[in-house]
Amino acid sequence: MATDASRDIDDLMAENRKFPPPKDFVKNTLVAGTFLYDEANEDYESFWARQAAELVSWDTPWDTICEWNLPFAKWFVGGKLNVSYNCLDRHVLAGNGDRKAILWEGEPGDTRVLTYAELLDEVCKFANALKSLGVERGDRVNIYLPMIPEAAVAMLACARIGAAHSVVFGGFSAQALADRINDASAKVLITADGGYRRGEVFPLKPQADEAVANTTSIEHVVVVKRGGNAVSMTPGRDHWYHDLMSGASNDCPAEPMDSEQLLFLLYTSGTTGKPKGIMHTTGGYLTHVTYTHKYVFDLHPEKDVYWCTADVGWVTGHSYIVYGPLANGATQVMYEGVPNFPANDRIWSIVEKYKVSIFYTAPTAIRTYMKWGIEEPAKHDLSSLRLLGSVGEPINPEAWIWYQENIGGGRCPIVDTWWQTETGGIMISPLPGATTTKPGSATFPIPGVHAEVVNDAGEPITHGGGYLTLTHPWPGMLRGIWGDPQRYKDTYWSTYEGKYFAGDGAKLDADGYLWLLGRVDDVMNVSGHRISTTEVESALVSHPSVAEAAVVGAKDDQTGQAIIAYVTLRGGATVDETDLRNHVAKEIGAIAKPKAVYFTPDLPKTRSGKIMRRLLRDVAEGRNLGDTTTLADQSVVAELQARAADHSED
Ligand code: WT7
Repeated sequence: MATDASRDIDDLMAENRKFPPPKDFVKNTLVAGTFLYDEANEDYESFWARQAAELVSWDTPWDTICEWNLPFAKWFVGGKLNVSYNCLDRHVLAGNGDRKAILWEGEPGDTRVLTYAELLDEVCKFANALKSLGVERGDRVNIYLPMIPEAAVAMLACARIGAAHSVVFGGFSAQALADRINDASAKVLITADGGYRRGEVFPLKPQADEAVANTTSIEHVVVVKRGGNAVSMTPGRDHWYHDLMSGASNDCPAEPMDSEQLLFLLYTSGTTGKPKGIMHTTGGYLTHVTYTHKYVFDLHPEKDVYWCTADVGWVTGHSYIVYGPLANGATQVMYEGVPNFPANDRIWSIVEKYKVSIFYTAPTAIRTYMKWGIEEPAKHDLSSLRLLGSVGEPINPEAWIWYQENIGGGRCPIVDTWWQTETGGIMISPLPGATTTKPGSATFPIPGVHAEVVNDAGEPITHGGGYLTLTHPWPGMLRGIWGDPQRYKDTYWSTYEGKYFAGDGAKLDADGYLWLLGRVDDVMNVSGHRISTTEVESALVSHPSVAEAAVVGAKDDQTGQAIIAYVTLRGGATVDETDLRNHVAKEIGAIAKPKAVYFTPDLPKTRSGKIMRRLLRDVAEGRNLGDTTTLADQSVVAELQARAADHSED
């Protein structure tokens, strides 16, 4: 029966394994013990100000650390700085111009290495090229590129001259690109002829042409030659990148920007609705990503080789490929292609080849590697790795353990980092040399960040399930939604008075550890129990035969909703439906036992790898599919629909 207590999300799963920071890791870690937390707890604004002063170079110091007019924040007000200076010039001036910034690997196996001095040179030239096309401080520039170094060059060149970039993932359609160009009224579009994906060239320029035809603001299109595919160039409007660069001077002094100058827009679609142009500005954002990249990844820039497998089209690519790592003077790997070209061990061959020491990826990728089997990583020497990271979705405890054992060789701490496009940088995560981790828990807010799990009434709770909120402003927070301040208030600040609501369910365990429970829109209601998708999925993944699982609540006459599970098995494994249903009952309770289990080789995902449970609900309830434009692979759902039809005839 539904009682008051069961209105919030149930807490079903108990995970008791604990992993203190490995002794060898702690020897050289930047943060052991609690000093950073202690300092932040004393006065969090001064704490952030110290990070800003220590980690970022300013042309003019700020006069106010934080101006907070709920829900609008400004950080380091009055300060001036240039982001591209921070990412490039200052390393070269410090004598590190020869340090490798980007170790790039193309999908076909071609490679490029860019030192900090070379990257600075490219960025200066391209900034001048943009100026020659009429780009000025305050303008917007769209970027639609494959994972090639020019993506970072283009972003940094914009930052250098004070134009805001809006990067659109290269896998998005012409229509998606046109919508984003129009919303931002961008003046210039930077694209490529094409890029490599799964052994073939995927054309970008034709999509870009189609998009530009449906926009009025674009004056010039810059085209990087990468795919070698034939493209048509519109005279006067379109310019080859290499032509612009060959005529450009490399003298382009970094101009000081206001701390609150718009650095970029990044559109997030969520699973439905008109995309929101999330606004990020300069000083606070750079402070947040530089600080988190240094301490969460325990970065030793003179010896680490860092690799984040995200695409620059997502916020992870902005914060933890471009701005955080480069501001810290890191050496990083950048890879153009898919993880299974030419074979399922490509990722591990890159780790071995470049001696990657810090590896940051997504649970969806980890579960895919589980599906491909442990023999793939076992083909390679992964002993260079010393730290592993996860981001994008809750990581199931069993996927965490798999990652730790088979990739980390049992010696690497794992940082499960919770954050969002909107938060700009990592918010909840272990510090690897200081935090005892539990598989599946993002542990605690990082020093300087304040989170609360609240109940339906918005009151903080100390244990059990509820809703994740953020209670104080933070430097990297979004400054709004481009052109729509009301939507900003309504979306993030109206559910719980005075608090930012992230849209995620979360729980606190008896030790105060924080566990993400998935999006609240996905929470299932079975006989009045609010059950998180994450906990049931983790129970399924804890079965030795299961690599990945998605569950949804489908309408049910008896119980309101019934749990329907979609399951992908590990390579070569088998299991029957009844065993799996009983396994869930045993792990977390009979109330969470799925009514039906469907086996599938793939789950429907967004292009950034998140499971689209909304579509699975449509399938489970036999509805026509809603909006499928954010789906990465359209064939997956059709396949599932066919299986559902078969099953109901059984
Ligand atoms: C949503 C934000 C953060 C960069 C990539 C995604 C989910 C993200 C975790 C994590 C559980 C996570 C949340 C969040 N999420 N990281 N470590 N544990 N859930 O950015 O596309 O803006 O998505 O991703 O649901 O709200 P995004």
